[in-house]
Amino acid sequence: MKALIINGPNLNYLGKRKPEIYGNRSLEELNEYINSYYKKDTLEFFQSNHEGSIIDKIQEASLKYEGIVINAGAFTHYSYAIRDAIEACEIPIVEVHLSNVAARERFRSISVISEVCQGTVAGFGMESYILGIRGLKSLIVD
Ligand code: DQA
Repeated sequence: MKALIINGPNLNYLGKRKPEIYGNRSLEELNEYINSYYKKDTLEFFQSNHEGSIIDKIQEASLKYEGIVINAGAFTHYSYAIRDAIEACEIPIVEVHLSNVAARERFRSISVISEVCQGTVAGFGMESYILGIRGLKSLIVD
């Protein structure tokens, strides 16, 4: 499987930002962990703090990848533009979160992207990505 893993705003601060919630490993370590787990798959990683850059990447993705796993960070909760980009995308997209967004501040329990994603995994730290990719693989017929 060839898939794109997208991380949104502030996820480049993983390891430094609220380690009690997001863990103490960096984004680079997360990406290495994912790659070592899914050795046989071709996974590419993209992080951006900018809404438009994430939208551009989603729009280009269907030509290059079979699926996407996205942690849209805080954009999850209010970006209708990312929501629309996901809806228009022709490949399956799985939403993931490190933390259990349903058990935190009220605004985090709303995801405007869930309804256009194939599924959501939240609350398992780095394992959320492993599980999200597992789910994505199950949707892609080789
Ligand atoms: C997050 C949860 C969001 O509410 C937050 O803004 C993030 C990270 C998570 O992975 O738990 O940046 O998406």
